[in-house]
Amino acid sequence: MSFLARLAKSAKGAIKRAIVQHHQRSGAVLFSDTTLRDGEQMPGATLEPADKLEIALALEKAGVHSLDAGFPASSEQDAEAIRMMIGKVKRPVLTALCRTVKSDVDAADRALAGQPAHKRGVSLFVGTSPLHRQFKLQKTETEILRIIEDNVGYAASKFEIVAFSPEDASRTELPYLCEAYRTAIAAGATTIGFPDTVGVLTPEKARDFLRRIQDGVPNIDRVLVAVHFHNDLGLAVANTLACIAEGAHVVQCTVNGIGERAGNASLEEVAMALDLNFDQYGRKAKIDTTQLVPLCHLVQRLTGIKPAPNKPVCGQTIFATEAGIHQDGLLKNPDTYLPFRPERVGAEKIELVLGRHSGRRAVSNRLAELGLPSDDTHVGVLLERIKQLPKGVILDDTLVRELATGG
Ligand code: KIV
Ligand code: ZN
Repeated sequence: MSFLARLAKSAKGAIKRAIVQHHQRSGAVLFSDTTLRDGEQMPGATLEPADKLEIALALEKAGVHSLDAGFPASSEQDAEAIRMMIGKVKRPVLTALCRTVKSDVDAADRALAGQPAHKRGVSLFVGTSPLHRQFKLQKTETEILRIIEDNVGYAASKFEIVAFSPEDASRTELPYLCEAYRTAIAAGATTIGFPDTVGVLTPEKARDFLRRIQDGVPNIDRVLVAVHFHNDLGLAVANTLACIAEGAHVVQCTVNGIGERAGNASLEEVAMALDLNFDQYGRKAKIDTTQLVPLCHLVQRLTGIKPAPNKPVCGQTIFATEAGIHQDGLLKNPDTYLPFRPERVGAEKIELVLGRHSGRRAVSNRLAELGLPSDDTHVGVLLERIKQLPKGVILDDTLVRELATGG
């Protein structure tokens, strides 16, 4: 290598390190969204390239730091979606998923052509657990380490941003896992991922893993640490938060928690948990929370995957209540029975649903809203009629009017 080439290489290395250090010092939790890749792996959630662009722009508006934008080597549509984002999605880093195979890195390089170097990256993965080594890859530990070294090195020759994830990390022996990370960092990785690929961890174990990795990987200060949890035990968000408390820099999430099997950590839930508990974590999410519900609705519409009505943050009924005591409290002060107001997450409004469990205040409030007499007698009559209704009847304004006027 010539003197000038060596100089250029070391300058590039210094810039990379400065960027990593900047993120490490800022203390902010960086959101890496994987809705367009792991989210789309959910059966039925297939997105067209134009849909992906629309979601990517909404994610940018919400403030995510990077997008796992697709797996170009796996399908032409993935490559096309990434190409469509070039020049349009400007702030987040766009990364492309790759196996530890040079042709995957080349496919990512082609798909991301034209994107500025500091805004494009690759995310390499290879299975490291005994199950993956023996049954999927049929390779020895040493062979896999060589594959990591070769391919991360190759990726680092083409990209400034290179993430490496040992697939099934949470079922990999800790000393070998640490060796895999050490190898990847020495070969040029700028981020190391910790994927709980089949979602088996609990928050205590997740945190313990992170602590041991930090202790067992001597060159870890050169990279950002990203965590990636699947929700097979319903613990993906809790595990993500536990790792934030342990110093993870990047959290990989999906909108509405969609993803492989039981899905991934839900972006909106992690963001709101951080927003509400700054006293505990002391770390900003840099997410504009008012964009969360519009983002969830967009992903729901384009994937066709509808979250449960009581889904935290974006479920259809989370700002609705039928219970008299709660309705009374909400009318006196919305904060009495809410963790946050609808406008904080971009939701519409509180809904006081009339039904068997409603109380006088909510009924009187609805009558007044409809411009009908709302004195004690009218309220009493309407409440009695509501309680007689058969199960399942939806009390919309027309029916309330009919019942109130005796029609
Ligand atoms: O869950 C997982 O292991 C993944 C890898 C591709 C990182 O999504
Ligand atoms: Zn995953």
